[in-house]
Amino acid sequence: MKLGKCIFPAAGYGTRFLPITKAIPKEMLPIVDKPLIHYGVDEAIAAGLTDISIIVSRGKFAISNYFDFHPDLEKVLSHRPRELQRLREVHQLLDQARFSYTRQNHIAGLGDALLSAEHLAGESSFTVILADDLCVPPGPMTRMVEVHRRFGCNVVAVEPVAEERLGQYGVIAGEPLPEAGCEDLLKVQAMVEKPPPGQAPGRLGIIGRYVLTQEIFPLLHEQQDRQDEQPGRELQLTEALAVLAQQGQVIACRYPGKRFDCGSVDGFVAATRHFHELRREQQAEADEESG
Ligand code: G1P
Repeated sequence: MKLGKCIFPAAGYGTRFLPITKAIPKEMLPIVDKPLIHYGVDEAIAAGLTDISIIVSRGKFAISNYFDFHPDLEKVLSHRPRELQRLREVHQLLDQARFSYTRQNHIAGLGDALLSAEHLAGESSFTVILADDLCVPPGPMTRMVEVHRRFGCNVVAVEPVAEERLGQYGVIAGEPLPEAGCEDLLKVQAMVEKPPPGQAPGRLGIIGRYVLTQEIFPLLHEQQDRQDEQPGRELQLTEALAVLAQQGQVIACRYPGKRFDCGSVDGFVAATRHFHELRREQQAEADEESG
């Protein structure tokens, strides 16, 4: 089953980072020297997803300006190899992937974001990355794509979440898959978005990585129809996936690596520290090599 598309919802206001997000999209805030969304795009490309669609809203032009060539700057840096190499980190992405953009006109939840990108999702399964969840490479997407190829169903990434934080996540319950080589996988039986205290079906929270089949769209449309009766209600991807889970159509993939919740200031600062340290180590190695 061929998977090539990766959708990045990036239309939100980033209110937890005000006032900076008044002028700079949250996705463009730097983790050391690259914007948050660059790390997600790296993960997508590493998983073979080279058709990148970004859902934006008004004032988010910085994202499309970033994912673009800059020939003048390249010329200026032609005798400064180290800086040129940094610029080329973006240019290399552009050589490998194709970028497209669409607008989400009213901000009404992740489900609504996906409906606004339905025309870009094409006719086969597709993937979604929430750039807020910054996964230290290799992120879970490569494994999720592999799982989708094998089972053909929807796939979500999960990790254990502390009890007091379960209310911030989509939470799943599932049972192990019997097949060999699937020790990290669970067949999802129930999913609840941001459960109230004491009502979570388990301890595994969904992190912002999804492989979705086309079956998701009619379910989101149904929610949208109901929304007309309940104005202001957000369209929830988890709610639509919960219906597919009841039909045995969702697999959860435990992510064993490190993830930072960059939707929160604490997580963002922790990610910055981590990648800064990594950057210093790489720099030291490069200095040593060049004598
Ligand atoms: C979204 C999803 C939630 C998921 C979370 C991961 O929530 O709705 O199910 O657990 O991303 O970050 P948000 O953080 O956008 O409120």
